[in-house]
Amino acid sequence: MTRHSPGEFCEEIIGQSDALSAVLARAERVASTDCTVLVTGETGTGKELLARGLHMASPRRSRPFVAVNCAAMSKDLLESELFGHVQGAFTTAVRNRDGRFQAADGGTIFLDEIGEMPLDLQSKLLRVLQFKEFSMVGETKVRQVDVRIIAATNADLKDLVRQGAFRQDLYYRLNVVQLRLPALRERRSDIEALACHFVEKLAAKYDRQVRALSPEALLVLRNRDWPGNIRELENAVEHGVLMAAGEEIQLEDLPLMDAEDLAGIEDFVRPLTDDGIDLQGTLRRIEAHYIRAALEQTAGNKNQAATLLGLNRTTLVEKLKRTFPEAVAAAS
Ligand SMILES: Nc1ncnc2c1ncn2[C@@H]1O[C@H](COP(=O)(O)OP(=O)(O)OP(=O)(O)O)[C@@H](O)[C@H]1O
Ligand SMILES: [Mg+2]
Repeated sequence: MTRHSPGEFCEEIIGQSDALSAVLARAERVASTDCTVLVTGETGTGKELLARGLHMASPRRSRPFVAVNCAAMSKDLLESELFGHVQGAFTTAVRNRDGRFQAADGGTIFLDEIGEMPLDLQSKLLRVLQFKEFSMVGETKVRQVDVRIIAATNADLKDLVRQGAFRQDLYYRLNVVQLRLPALRERRSDIEALACHFVEKLAAKYDRQVRALSPEALLVLRNRDWPGNIRELENAVEHGVLMAAGEEIQLEDLPLMDAEDLAGIEDFVRPLTDDGIDLQGTLRRIEAHYIRAALEQTAGNKNQAATLLGLNRTTLVEKLKRTFPEAVAAAS
C-alpha cells in the first residue's frame, strides 16, 4: 500500500493509518482534475478539510473555494444563495445579488450535506453539472459558470434515492469518485498524532504552556469510540488544555470519564482497595502484556502487530525499546 507522507497531498490532514492513507492516495489521484467528487463519512471525520485539500492541490487553487451547507437554509433561500437573484425576484430582492456559484467561478464549490438539498433544486444542480449553466432566481437568462463541484454527505445517498428523496441521475453524476473518510475508531493509530497536533494548536491559541498528554490520558483517548470523530477529539483536547495545571494534560483534565469510556474495564483490572495500586506499574504491565501478545500472534511481524494494537510501527518500536530493552538489544 502506498503510504501517505505528510506534506505530500495536504499537510493539514494529520494521520498515517492505512485507512486514511488509502483515501488520501485516491484523493491525490483525482485532485488535479476537474472531476466531481463525493466525500462521505460520519460527522467530524474531516470531509470539509479533505475538500479544501482537493481544491488546494488542483490548478484552481488560486481561485475561490466556496462552501455551502445545503441543510442550513429553506429551499427558497438556498436557491437564491446558490444561484443568486435579480432585483424584484421576490419582495425582499431590492437589488441583483450574485450567488455562490458565481462567486466560485473558476474555483471549487463545496456542497455540504448534499442529501438535504430539496428535489427541485437538485434538478438545477444537475443542469450545472451537465451543461455548466444556470439562471438566477427571477430571470430566464442563461449564465455560464466554470466550477468544480465537491459534494459531501454523512447520509446514505443510495438510501435516499430508494426513498425518492434524491434524484438517481444526480446521484450518478456526483458519485463519479467517492472518497469515504474512515471513522476515528477505524483508525485508532492516528489518535495520538491528532491529539498532539491539537495540544500544540490549542496551547498556542490559549497561550498555555501545555505540551503533552499523560500516558493515562492518551490511553483513554485511544480507547474511546468517538461518535463525533475528530471534531469531538479536538473538543476534548481543548478542554484538557484549558484545565491542565502543568505542562501535561492529566486524565482528570479530560471531559471523558463517563461510563462509556470505562465500560468493560472492571473485567480485567483488580478492584481498588485501601492498599491503593501502583497505577504507572499497572499500565506498564498491561502495555507489555498486549505488545507481547500481538508479537506472538503475528510471529514477530512488527507491522502487523502495530496494526493489531492500533499503533504506528514507529510508536510500537519505541514502546518495545522502553518495555523490552534487553530483547531489542539482543535482536540487533
Ligand atoms: N485528519 C485531520 N487532521 C487534522 N485535523 C482534522 C483532520 N480531520 C478533521 N480535522 C479537523 O476536525 C474538525 C472537523 O472536520 P470537518 O469540519 O472537515 O469534518 P466534517 O466531516 O465536515 O464534519 P461534519 O459532517 O460535522 O460537517 C475540523 O476542525 C478539522 O480541521
Ligand atoms: Mg462539514
